Amino acid sequence: MNGDIAVDDLTEAQARKELARLVTELKLADASYYGEDDPHLSDAEYDALRLRNLAIEARFPHLKRSDSPSERVGAPISDGFGKIEHGVPMLSLDNAFTDEDVQDFAERVRRFLGLAADEVVEITAEPKIDGLSLSLTYENGKLIRGATRGDGAVGEDVTANARTLDDVPKTLAGTGWPRRIEIRGEVYMSNADFAALNEAEAAAGRKQYMNPRNAAAGGLRQKDPAVTAQRPLKFYAYAWGAVSEPFAETQLEAVAALASWGFQTNDLFQAHETVNGLLSAYRDMVERRAGLGYDIDGVVYKVNRLDWQQRLGKVSRFPRWAIAHKFPAEKAITTLEAIDVQVGRTGSLTPVARLNPITVGGVVVSNATLHNEEEIERLDVRVGDQVEIQRAGDVIPQVLRVIDPDRAGRPGPFEMPDVCPECGSAAVRELDDKGKADVRRRCTGGLICPAQVKERLKHFVSRKALDIDGLGAKQIELFYDRGIVTAPQHIFQLPARIAAAGFEPLDAWEGFGSVSAGKLLAAIDDRRKAPFARFLNGLGIRHVGQTTSDLFSRTFVEWRAFWAAVEEARDAPGGDAEQALTAIDGIGGAAVGALKAFAAEPHNQDMMAELLEELEIQDGEAPASESPVAGKTVVFTGTLEAMTRDEAKARATSLGAKVSGSVSKRTDILVAGPGAGSKLKKAQELGVQVMTEAEWIDFVSGA
Ligand code: IVH
Repeated sequence: MNGDIAVDDLTEAQARKELARLVTELKLADASYYGEDDPHLSDAEYDALRLRNLAIEARFPHLKRSDSPSERVGAPISDGFGKIEHGVPMLSLDNAFTDEDVQDFAERVRRFLGLAADEVVEITAEPKIDGLSLSLTYENGKLIRGATRGDGAVGEDVTANARTLDDVPKTLAGTGWPRRIEIRGEVYMSNADFAALNEAEAAAGRKQYMNPRNAAAGGLRQKDPAVTAQRPLKFYAYAWGAVSEPFAETQLEAVAALASWGFQTNDLFQAHETVNGLLSAYRDMVERRAGLGYDIDGVVYKVNRLDWQQRLGKVSRFPRWAIAHKFPAEKAITTLEAIDVQVGRTGSLTPVARLNPITVGGVVVSNATLHNEEEIERLDVRVGDQVEIQRAGDVIPQVLRVIDPDRAGRPGPFEMPDVCPECGSAAVRELDDKGKADVRRRCTGGLICPAQVKERLKHFVSRKALDIDGLGAKQIELFYDRGIVTAPQHIFQLPARIAAAGFEPLDAWEGFGSVSAGKLLAAIDDRRKAPFARFLNGLGIRHVGQTTSDLFSRTFVEWRAFWAAVEEARDAPGGDAEQALTAIDGIGGAAVGALKAFAAEPHNQDMMAELLEELEIQDGEAPASESPVAGKTVVFTGTLEAMTRDEAKARATSLGAKVSGSVSKRTDILVAGPGAGSKLKKAQELGVQVMTEAEWIDFVSGA
């Protein structure tokens, strides 16, 4: 680590690494500061990190990162906000970039609903406002709560601030509102108000906001509602969450109702019967965009009929009934100064373009991904080239092309190293079943590669995994470099391993002290009961991320049952267990293959055994525990009449059932439509419960 080197003595390479480290640390510090009651850094430590970051940036302005902490805006909030659980999660939207993507969306909707070719599917179009979403709860027509989106399930309590917005009715107007309703929409700032605010900030010697969205977010998340009240924040209502009773049959009717209750709704909101209609609405909005007076970054399409929305449901974080058609990304031209190679948690080598920093769409960009060596070859990009880059929304900036290269006297093409830059192991391109080389090169060092091990350990303790407070990237680096923590189980043996390695107890270490050492050990102990999904995600198995882990946890509920199935799949490839795993809606063969490979490695078996001596994995929760089919394995066969096969599977999974493709002694229910054949026969032989489609619908209705 470069932590001890004076800023004036840093080499450029060290400075770059140090800036990267500081971003991570300050982000982690912010997260623990805003998210929890006890931040893991003292104010002085935090300030020291920020100052060091500024000093390095002052010395090496061209190394300043697009995500630099010095660009972070908004007065820091000294009190964290309370948390509010949303009645219905606040989802994100899947993206469409091309006309074809929109066509595909419309076809997916039709297919899922099993509609006849001549059935009209009305879809609405409206601007995608570039602000931040807010959920407002009304009870008996009175505003009782306001919450930010947060992680979608739990947001921050910003009730007092939300009340100060003119566009947020404190009492609903009109009639017909449900007794209880969560109204959702976007808080934003107009371009004119943004410019005036920044002028005032500059005049007062304060830092300016980067763009209207940041200014809106900063305004809503003020500690003092009186400050929020002075910020020109606006609100458009466009959706709703939990409602005590239905209040409309279509999106159009619903939005009209929101307007009648006193909300601002968008004038450009419209409905179309054809994809061409949607596309012309999109083009129209592209043209109007510059004159709207507020930022939009695309057009949102939503299936108009609410009963269809209901049937379509969601896949992980996205509703199936809506999509965002994004505007083309913003572009800029700059110089490619270097190509670095980063090693990720799974060993993949990613070439990263270091750029002469440039502003694209209001954000300073100094890095862009080059993805892999094929991409570098395709672009024929070399150090020193002028390159066009683009940035779309929150995605990592990309290098699009080289502008007229004049390469006289410059080095030749970039060559991807065939050994890992971190551990020297061979870095290879794996072959797939068909003998085709993977585009990504991977370090084969596995657990001997310090970069991989460190990244895996960091992932294991990260927020989405075990979430161990006070154990961040910095601490992992420190413990790893001293040989104390080189595998996940070592985290739970910290004091003993510190002593065994001949170090003083943690509370005597610089930067720890008895309070923070005590807190860290307590936080570790606290995670000796680890939730199923977090634990699985934390293992960092390829293709088994957060969403997949959640799905396994909800489907299997019991960790032991899940792991037994993985081991059985490993020992009996293609057997019942493997089929059951692969049959889960949303789980692909790649995830199951990676689980089997993980479970087959002796060192992973040892690690799991050791880990399980240290911690206890808590069972997951079925999505609807009162559901009569939670935890049951269901097979559908024959022709379904009231619903499509996809819909039947999605509904069963959402009720906590496992959907399998074949009948075995593990099957609990076979739903057999007309034309059922061998599966029905097998079920009868095995004594599996058989239902007609109508009986099934009856059985799960009300769940
Ligand atoms: S509908 C379930 N409509 O986009 C669908 N979202 O990427 C809920 N957004 O978090 C969202 N304008 O903050 C919807 N007209 C609009 C929107 C909109 C902006 C934001 C919203 C959401 C994000 C999803």
